[in-house]
Amino acid sequence: MDKFTISPVPELIFGRGTIKELPPIIAKMGFLNIAVITGGKSFVNSIYWQFLSDSFSANGLKVYHFISIGETTPETVDGIVQNLLERNIDVVLAIGGGTVMDTGKAVSAMLCMSGSIIDYLEGVGTKEPTGKRKPLICVPTTSGTGSEATKNAVITKIGNNGFKKSLRHKAYIPDTVIIDPDLIMSCPIPLTIASGMDAVTQLLESYVSIKSNPFTDQLALNGLKLAGSSLSRLVNNPEDMDARVKMAYAAYLSGITLANAGLGVVHGAASVLGSMRSIPHGVVCGTLLGSATEMIIAKLNKHKNPLNDASLIKYSEAGIALTGSNNLIETLNNWVNDYKVSRLSEYGFTEMELVSASKLTGLKNTPFQLDKKDIFSILFSRL
Ligand SMILES: [Fe+2]
Repeated sequence: MDKFTISPVPELIFGRGTIKELPPIIAKMGFLNIAVITGGKSFVNSIYWQFLSDSFSANGLKVYHFISIGETTPETVDGIVQNLLERNIDVVLAIGGGTVMDTGKAVSAMLCMSGSIIDYLEGVGTKEPTGKRKPLICVPTTSGTGSEATKNAVITKIGNNGFKKSLRHKAYIPDTVIIDPDLIMSCPIPLTIASGMDAVTQLLESYVSIKSNPFTDQLALNGLKLAGSSLSRLVNNPEDMDARVKMAYAAYLSGITLANAGLGVVHGAASVLGSMRSIPHGVVCGTLLGSATEMIIAKLNKHKNPLNDASLIKYSEAGIALTGSNNLIETLNNWVNDYKVSRLSEYGFTEMELVSASKLTGLKNTPFQLDKKDIFSILFSRL
């Protein structure tokens, strides 16, 4: 067995009704001032927000509430941090989807560093993150990005000179994660599909990653099995609680596997495309996953050697874990069609933009060295 390292995983409190454990946890830690980041309307209008607000004030906590809508931008993070600097914040609580948790993660870090977050972004800034941060609790309300278990916050600037880059440090893994599937029940179908496809992409890309290890392999296979059996059930019945529970757990596993084994070309392309136009991350992953998998498997078959054969076996195992069938390509392409995952042109992309995007796309830990023409073919097939 080769050498490998596993990063810490957050304390996890998982299960229906666990949101009720949040106020006593915060009170017990002796925190007084709490910064809460949520998404737009749906959670804030729910009975859960009412419950939390009442509990926080009953426990004498002072709450500073901010809403983070859309992608996490440098302006959003810097603006919240500016507002909180004099407030002696004790803990940051992020309740929402991946971008909300990324905002919370970035705010908890930037409350302990000077300047703009841009200065500390990988490939953009010139400063190294210190790793210091405020205590951080994450509560996901979608099942997808796995941000609740990762060490990075993705920060986005869309358009000319746009980017999708990470603020990353191993210390940024949240302290505590509460996954209460009751909070995810009202997640709309299109968002359930997009986040679910993101989770599946993360599990598959980390499973076949050249940096995978026995620990991540076990988790990824388990995650694929849970996600595969749950996604179609949720599309037919979004109130299927058993499927919600399994999908939520699979998404959490995908965060652990991606943080420890890395990702592949689909996420490489998602970073580039997501910086060019406003397109949900889960949609990019979902639309490209079938084509990318088909391309990689074809290349591995064409260039036979023991390493490529081992990767092909992993793709076959992943297909069986997902649906019981080892025809992974067919499964993924059927999902794209059956779930009506959008094409890139529906978000305004043009062929010329895809040429540029393919030149900028990194392979990350893809198990075959695709060239720029291969990457363009993948993107173009989903224009
Ligand atoms: Fe992702």
